[in-house]
Amino acid sequence: MSAEPAAIDAANISKSYGSRQAVINVSFQVKPGEVFGLIGPNGAGKTTVLRMLVGLIRPTSGSVSLFGHDVRADFENALRPVGAIIENPEMYKFLTGRQNLAQYARMRPGITNAQIDETVALVGLADRINEKITRYSLGMRQRLGIAQAILHHPKLLLLDEPTNGLDPQGIQELRQMIRHLADSQGMAVLLSSHLLHDVQTVCDSIAIINQGRTVASGGIASFTQGKAASYRFVVADLNRAVELSKAQKWKIVSKDETANALVVESDQEPSSLNESLVKAGIKVSRIEGVTRSLEDAFLELTRGANGSTGGLS
Ligand SMILES: Nc1ncnc2c1ncn2[C@@H]1O[C@H](COP(=O)(O)OP(=O)(O)O)[C@@H](O)[C@H]1O
Ligand SMILES: [Mg+2]
Repeated sequence: MSAEPAAIDAANISKSYGSRQAVINVSFQVKPGEVFGLIGPNGAGKTTVLRMLVGLIRPTSGSVSLFGHDVRADFENALRPVGAIIENPEMYKFLTGRQNLAQYARMRPGITNAQIDETVALVGLADRINEKITRYSLGMRQRLGIAQAILHHPKLLLLDEPTNGLDPQGIQELRQMIRHLADSQGMAVLLSSHLLHDVQTVCDSIAIINQGRTVASGGIASFTQGKAASYRFVVADLNRAVELSKAQKWKIVSKDETANALVVESDQEPSSLNESLVKAGIKVSRIEGVTRSLEDAFLELTRGANGSTGGLS
């Protein structure tokens, strides 16, 4: 029974600040090589969770193990294979990217020049590393921060809201880099975000937290596979199509008057509705399957989620 220990095992962690409960009984596991998203609106408790994971603050109750080492009882062994950006990393603006990394490497014994070069290449900064960081874009600074956090070859990387302030291209590059770290190095990555959209494509699993509680967690697929399938019909006469769908007991998810389209949900085959529409003389120019987006699930789960518990895992 000697399975590889989880990169992160957070067991029922809670944190109160005075009478305010910032995090309430949150549990999750992250496997080696897995990209895990901690998603929730501002104030949900994400940063508090991350701070507990790395021992910056002590949980009011519950415990955290990293690779099988308890963060409180065995801090050094637990944190040795970890890199993290939780607060803004310290950077010297008037030094170059490389000088910044060298400065940091001095504090961590055993980091070689070759290791610095390799890390710089990994984060895609090789051609700009000898420039002062005053000339860097926010995305480049973000990547330099990650380079600093992974210089010592951690097996677990924690990033608190890494997409904040990045433009769409920067976000895309960050996602690719994170995926690359997980896939090529087997690194476990935990990242937080208040914008599901920014991270959903890079994560293997997520936990959605709201008001300090986990409202849902599980593999990405468990959020996108609704029970009933949805179909989008583009029709010649939208109003009549809506009437007919109702008569056939198909649930109308949405209608779009400009596109003459309606989205309906049913566990029946879409061909049965198509047939009825055509029989009624309503021309159907297109039918397509619609996957329930994680965004819908997220909004549903966090909307007035007080007290509700998601059971997706
Ligand atoms: N040091 C602190 N003292 C008191 N309350 C805090 C402190 N840090 C965070 N909080 C509160 O805990 C809750 C969760 O905050 P935080 O973990 O920063 O959320 P998130 O990172 O998801 O935006 C918020 O209500 C916040 O105001
Ligand atoms: Mg935060």
